[in-house]
Amino acid sequence: MKFSAPKGTRDLLPPETAAWQHAEHVFGDVCRRFGYGEIRLPTFEQTELFQRGVGDTTDIVQKEMYTFPDKGGRSLTLRPEGTAGVVRSYVENGMASWPSPVRLYYAITAFRYENVQKGRYREFHQFGCEAIGAAGPAIDAELISLLQLFFAQMGLAETKLRINSIGCPVCREAYQALLRDWLKPHLPQLCDNCQDRFVRNPLRIIDCKETRCQAVTAQAPAQADHLCADCQAHFDGLQHQLNVLGLSYVIDRRIVRGLDYYTRTVFEFVSEHVGTQGTICGGGRYDGLIETVGGAPTPGIGFALGVERLLMELDAQGIQTPPAPTPVLFLAIAGDHEDEARRLCFRLRQAGLAVETDLLGRSLKAQMKYAGKSGTRYVLVLGDDEAASGSGRLRNLETRAETEVRLDQLEQHLLEA
Ligand code: HAM
Repeated sequence: MKFSAPKGTRDLLPPETAAWQHAEHVFGDVCRRFGYGEIRLPTFEQTELFQRGVGDTTDIVQKEMYTFPDKGGRSLTLRPEGTAGVVRSYVENGMASWPSPVRLYYAITAFRYENVQKGRYREFHQFGCEAIGAAGPAIDAELISLLQLFFAQMGLAETKLRINSIGCPVCREAYQALLRDWLKPHLPQLCDNCQDRFVRNPLRIIDCKETRCQAVTAQAPAQADHLCADCQAHFDGLQHQLNVLGLSYVIDRRIVRGLDYYTRTVFEFVSEHVGTQGTICGGGRYDGLIETVGGAPTPGIGFALGVERLLMELDAQGIQTPPAPTPVLFLAIAGDHEDEARRLCFRLRQAGLAVETDLLGRSLKAQMKYAGKSGTRYVLVLGDDEAASGSGRLRNLETRAETEVRLDQLEQHLLEA
């Protein structure tokens, strides 16, 4: 019987994994510059955490979660995103007593039962940040500047930042009533999903991707034009802070985000290169979430970016990431010198060098062919003469230059090369 990876999942193989490691490394480095520490969390959580945290009316909770009972009869769910778990951990571990704001970053796999297409998978990877404990717009702008810096460090210059405000529970209630009144006469023109959303969560109709719904909502009132005084001040403050940092952005009144926990600031980084799945990154403020999962009222803000989409974007823009490292030396074996070769190889590896030798008993010709393909810089043949004299010729495969080196000084030579 033949097996294949489940639909919507992918094997990541070398050398592609080098690009992933590079992105992870750059992300961690940028996060640390902003004072973020890494958090690692369980892959699955109690189902109720997501029902409450992400929200019962969202597509994620309604249709997309991998939920299963364990053998003890508990309902568990593979995390569809990272924020709910971080907030659960914040409350459970008493992080409210840590210096505020608590700044955390993560690199995770997430799981959503979605229709699989380009840039949309059922198991995917996110890099994310959460900053908990700061209410003013300065942290919103700082978080956005972290993202901008990350993109810049990855070589991405053209990614567009879109921001919006979706208000707080107070001004949103008034706005939702207004929106419902406005939408009512247009209901028959909306898609089935939006008919449903009209009752459950009319705000989500604004970002429906169906052309017919977009045509209806093009003229609909926007939450950003109906903010209460505090939310308006926060939104103005965010724009001021972004200007202070010299970050460019556009206000997009259609961004409402697909998760229920958002309040005030929401933002997305989009790209024209990754088609309908153009959102590389999304985030926003969630000032009510910590309370929802049992903590004291505490403001928070965060984002997550899709790593698959980030790498697609790099590819589309022709941006190269550092290639997978290749061995510096291939130690070829001529004659009966396997033991010496393996001993020497291990010694060089202990000294920090990436080296290879033959393990398959290949002919010298086949070994040289393999060395050429492996991308190694140098080859040294260990045969009778070398074993007897304790020195050998180090050949640079690119320049063809040869240098006589003592085998007991090989590591120094290679480390300086
Ligand atoms: P989200 O918008 O659901 O937000 O996901 C964030 C990013 O994850 C998306 O912009 C996209 O790049 C990627 N993504 C989502 N679903 C898929 C998928 N099926 N396949 C590939 N990539 C995908 C959140 O997850 C929030 N937790 C973000 C956040 C953190 N807000 C505050 N803190």
